[in-house]
Amino acid sequence: MAYRVAVVGATGAVGEAMIAELERSTLPIAELVPMASARSAGKTVAFRGAEVPVVEATPEAFSGVDLALFSAGGQTSRALAPEAVRRGAVVVDNSSAFRLEDRVPLVVPEVNAEALADHRGLIANPNCSTIQMVVALAPLRERYGLRRIVVSTYQAVSGAGRRAVDALRFESGRWLEGEGFVPEVLPVASLPVKYPIADNVIPQIDRFEPNGFTFEEMKMVRETQKIFGDPALEVAATCVRVPVTVGHSEAVTVELEEAPASMEDVVEALRAAPGVVVWDDPTAQRYPTPMLVRGERDVYVGRIRRDLFRPNVVHLWVVADNLVKGAAWNAVQIAETLEEKGLLRVPAAEGDR
Ligand code: A2P
Repeated sequence: MAYRVAVVGATGAVGEAMIAELERSTLPIAELVPMASARSAGKTVAFRGAEVPVVEATPEAFSGVDLALFSAGGQTSRALAPEAVRRGAVVVDNSSAFRLEDRVPLVVPEVNAEALADHRGLIANPNCSTIQMVVALAPLRERYGLRRIVVSTYQAVSGAGRRAVDALRFESGRWLEGEGFVPEVLPVASLPVKYPIADNVIPQIDRFEPNGFTFEEMKMVRETQKIFGDPALEVAATCVRVPVTVGHSEAVTVELEEAPASMEDVVEALRAAPGVVVWDDPTAQRYPTPMLVRGERDVYVGRIRRDLFRPNVVHLWVVADNLVKGAAWNAVQIAETLEEKGLLRVPAAEGDR
């Protein structure tokens, strides 16, 4: 069977990456249906040599769609994802709208593909920073057990959408010319205070929660616990926006239940893990950077060190393309995994109620 596949948010930074991932996917695709807001009417997107018209995302537009990948913000997902499922489309949603709901699997295929088994039509794609961290930590969890994670992120502006990428380019140009500018997009477009991202770093991604952590930081806590099925796992995150267009980096300190026998043992566990590439050679100054891993599907790990004081604590540097593994590829990989398992269909009880 070949599928009709919709991409909701097709004109956005992640939507465009989703279409690129579908182009190189093994999924049999009969037709691509790119969707966006009414503002995009008249636009087209290129797919496998054809120019495909963008249609407005409405409930009716999902009739006859088998699979819908959503990346148009939480509001759009809340309004339209259940409508798509009702019309028989399996939805992989990249927003945070449904991630923590009990009956919604939150999936990184290398880590917890088994969670797809009893899906009800809607599957959530985790937050980009969470995805790359759990891919790198899953093999260590398996071999030694995880007790506590402390992570600081260095997140690219593309995670905040196309406007944020444009803002970095614009501000950087003005800054280099010695010209002034008014920051308009970051840290959060809908909040009143803005900071420049050119020549700057901003220790705020998303809104603050009453506990003093940001929503992005709490996503890393709650989503990591859900994906690992360990609600007691301790996670402390500091999420920071840096002037990079694509590619998130993370400094991760992980306290293991059991001290690894050697660091070679840790490297071996990482090398054997699906979706992980180890680049770690201080003598050759070899380690991943965002620019080096752009466009790649894997998660890259370097700077692997044992803590100086605690033998069961390990430090890692984890880098991935936030638009690819952090969003588009993980979503398409979920769809491919569903297809392989014969699960790319909405269970009878969920469609057309
Ligand atoms: P549009 O281009 O028509 O506004 P980004 O995260 O890069 O800013 O992209 C957001 C994506 O979500 C765009 O494709 C945008 O389409 C889409 N989008 C925003 N609001 C809606 C909406 N209400 N309905 C459908 N798509 C939307």
